[in-house]
Amino acid sequence: MYDPRQRLIVALDVSSAAAAQKIVAAVGDSASCYKVGMQLYTAEGPGIVRDLVASGRRVFLDLKYHDIPNTVAAAVREAAGLGVSMLTVHASGGGKMMRAATEAARKSNAALMVLAVTVLTSLDDNDLDKLGVHGRVKDQVLRLAALALADGCQGVVASAQEASELRSELDGDFAIVTPGIRLASMDPGDQARVVTPAEAIAAGASHIVVGRPITGAADPASEARAILGQISF
Ligand code: C5P
Repeated sequence: MYDPRQRLIVALDVSSAAAAQKIVAAVGDSASCYKVGMQLYTAEGPGIVRDLVASGRRVFLDLKYHDIPNTVAAAVREAAGLGVSMLTVHASGGGKMMRAATEAARKSNAALMVLAVTVLTSLDDNDLDKLGVHGRVKDQVLRLAALALADGCQGVVASAQEASELRSELDGDFAIVTPGIRLASMDPGDQARVVTPAEAIAAGASHIVVGRPITGAADPASEARAILGQISF
C-alpha cells in the first residue's frame, strides 16, 4: 500500500514566496509535495523551488514546457538541477520533444518524473475541431497519452474522468496526476468537473493535486489530514 502522503500534491497557486511559505508552514507534516506552477514561478523564479527542496519538500514544477526538443531538454536539465521531483511537458509538442525531455531527465536524475499534459480540460470537442483536430477529446487524450508513454514519460496529467479510460486502455504502471479535487461538502469554485479524493484514486489516479481546498482552508493541516484519510485505502 502507498503512504497516502506520497499521493497528495498541494498546489501553491500564489504570487509570492512569502505566501507560499505560509501555506507550507500551515500544512506542516500533512503533505510533502508541492506544485509550483507558472504563477508562482513567474513571480519568484527558481529561488522558491530551491528553498522548498532545501527544506526537504518534493517539488512538482508545472511549467508545461512546449518548445523544440533541444530547448525543452535544456530546460529539463535546469529543472533537474533545481532538484524538482516531477515536471510537465505538453504532449502536443510531439514524440521527438518528449523523447529529448525524458532522456535529459534520465541523464540528470533517474528519479525525475516527466509527466505529459494531453488535452487541456478547458478544451472541448468544438475547440479541438477549430484547432484542426477532428474527433473526440477523449480519443485525442488517449492518443497523446500513448505517445507520451512510448516516448519515455512516466505519466500524464489527467482529469479523473479520463483516468479510468487511460487505465483500461493503456498498459503499464504509469502515473496519473489528477487535479480538480473537492471534498464532497465543498463549493466547486471554477472547476467545472470535480471529484472527491477517493473518487480520483478509485478512478486510477496515482496522485491528486489539491489547491484551494487546502490553501484556502482555515486550518490547512486538518484539511490535508482529512484528504489523506480519504485516500488511505
Ligand atoms: O485550487 P484547485 O484545487 O482548483 O487547484 C488545482 C490545480 O490544478 C491548479 O494549480 C490548476 O492550475 C491545476 N489544474 C487544474 N485543471 C486542470 C489542469 C491543472 O485545475 N485541468
